[in-house]
Amino acid sequence: MTATVIDGKAFAAKVRGQVADHVARLKEAHGITPGLAVVLVGEDPASQVYVRSKGKMTVEVGMKSVEHKLDADTSEEDLLAVVKSLNEDPEIHGILVQLPLPGHLNEDLVINSIDPAKDVDGFHISNVGLLGTGQKSMVPCTPLGCLMMLRDHHGSLSGLNAVVIGRSNIVGKPMAQLLLGDSCTVTIAHSRTKDIQDVVRGADVVVAAVGRPEMVTGEWIKPGATVIDVGINRIDAPEKGEGKTRLVGDCHYDSCADVAGAITPVPGGVGPMTIACLLANTVTACCRANGLAEPEGLTA
Ligand code: GUN
Repeated sequence: MTATVIDGKAFAAKVRGQVADHVARLKEAHGITPGLAVVLVGEDPASQVYVRSKGKMTVEVGMKSVEHKLDADTSEEDLLAVVKSLNEDPEIHGILVQLPLPGHLNEDLVINSIDPAKDVDGFHISNVGLLGTGQKSMVPCTPLGCLMMLRDHHGSLSGLNAVVIGRSNIVGKPMAQLLLGDSCTVTIAHSRTKDIQDVVRGADVVVAAVGRPEMVTGEWIKPGATVIDVGINRIDAPEKGEGKTRLVGDCHYDSCADVAGAITPVPGGVGPMTIACLLANTVTACCRANGLAEPEGLTA
């Protein structure tokens, strides 16, 4: 293996430390405690794990954490009423409605009912539009985490060829916008892309966010390229014993690490950065709401 391993776990701990410092200053100088509200509808086990983890880390950095757990059969009207009350609550600066929502709820409608200034996921249509036009916005957490790691590794990203694999609203599209904002030449590749391996092989920076285990192999990677693996896929691992599983990314780690200049592992790469960036977005939202200077290095 030749690639430098980009340690997302350590980087995320550093970001959380910066957030905690800023929270302490806000409390001391202004008597303000940033507050994050998470709304969970139903009992999806993966979502429950995320939400617990978010709540724990929110408290660890000194912020106020509020959780609203609603039954799976909650009506749209009731959910919208919860969001409205959080929009109006001056102690809440960030609101996150955990996705996916149960099928009877309209996700777009619910997300767009959040006050854009409190939309720490950056999913509200206003924030999507602001990001797309290069204006100040709330930036989706996972792409923001990827951008922070790339800036840290490369310094300037200007002029680099970047290929984002995946065109989701949550990762692929905002990631492409952020890389464009940092003056990369950006291509979005997806399931219908012709000769996708050749497209990816032209990239100095590859961000893989497709949700297909180990799809990208070392043959796809230009020697020395930086590989950011957003995928978190659980696959069978019979070598560990019957019924055992393991986590893998969208990139085949060993073969990519043989060719790449730098790579994020799974787990321990992009994953921990997502929650760190959620906390960063909450402190940013709090500063903006109070007309105070934003923390440096924690926004796009
Ligand atoms: N479900 C999985 N990841 C996320 C996320 O980043 N935000 C929200 N709201 N839901 C999610």
